Amino acid sequence: IHNIVFDDSNCGSKIVAKEIADLIREKQSKNKKCVLGLATGSSPIRVYDELVRMHKEEGLSFKNVVTFNLDEYFPMSEDNEQSYHYFMHDHLFNHIDILKENIHIPKGDIDSDKILDFCIDYEKKIKDYGGLDFQLLGIGRTGHIGFNEPGSHSKSRTRLITLDHVTRTDAAFSFLGLDNVPKRAITMGIGTIKEAKRIVLLAWGENKASTIKETIEGEISSHVPATYLQGHNNTTFVLDKGAASLLT
Ligand code: F6R
Repeated sequence: IHNIVFDDSNCGSKIVAKEIADLIREKQSKNKKCVLGLATGSSPIRVYDELVRMHKEEGLSFKNVVTFNLDEYFPMSEDNEQSYHYFMHDHLFNHIDILKENIHIPKGDIDSDKILDFCIDYEKKIKDYGGLDFQLLGIGRTGHIGFNEPGSHSKSRTRLITLDHVTRTDAAFSFLGLDNVPKRAITMGIGTIKEAKRIVLLAWGENKASTIKETIEGEISSHVPATYLQGHNNTTFVLDKGAASLLT
């Protein structure tokens, strides 16, 4: 794992957006699709703001872009403002020229008996596009990436998981109370994420510092699933001073 420390999240987000834009343009010049794995939450918001700005002011086109989001709460309807479906459209998809059919987000509103087939199909679609060219990640205080909570297997695939109590506590504020936070989610697996050709993880603020330290300096273990990234050969952690404050 490489890590780069920026003065603040704005500077870091701009560099990451630039890398994504360069990749999109490089693929465009070769008439190829650019397959992006995307995250939700507070960490990537400024990256999406910057991509929207580049679309509006610099003519960056997303016509060749295919996206796969990491996760979605279960159960969750698409039009619920707490859904990751809503988040992605609100922060990115509604403001760029991406084709609707190229957007993939795990479905939080399917029948329980359809979940397994849905997950198998999600994996197949990623494979059929030739795999993820770039995966954007945040990190939770449990050390989760996607919603791969402690205990997740290094070879795990897209599946239904149970959210950790810490993760639900962190989400309680935006859901107006812990009781309203879904108990489960559908997430890409660690194995899915690790097959991406390039991974960039964002972490901002001191409340991520101890998790970042464990992830970069700790032993690889399912107790902190993000440590599995140590075994990936093209991963960069983009941090601000707060998130990097405990690194030795
Ligand atoms: C979101 C996701 C999660 C978040 C993580 C950090 O799609 O997969 O792993 O990245 O919970 O969330 P924030 O950025 O809100 O601190």
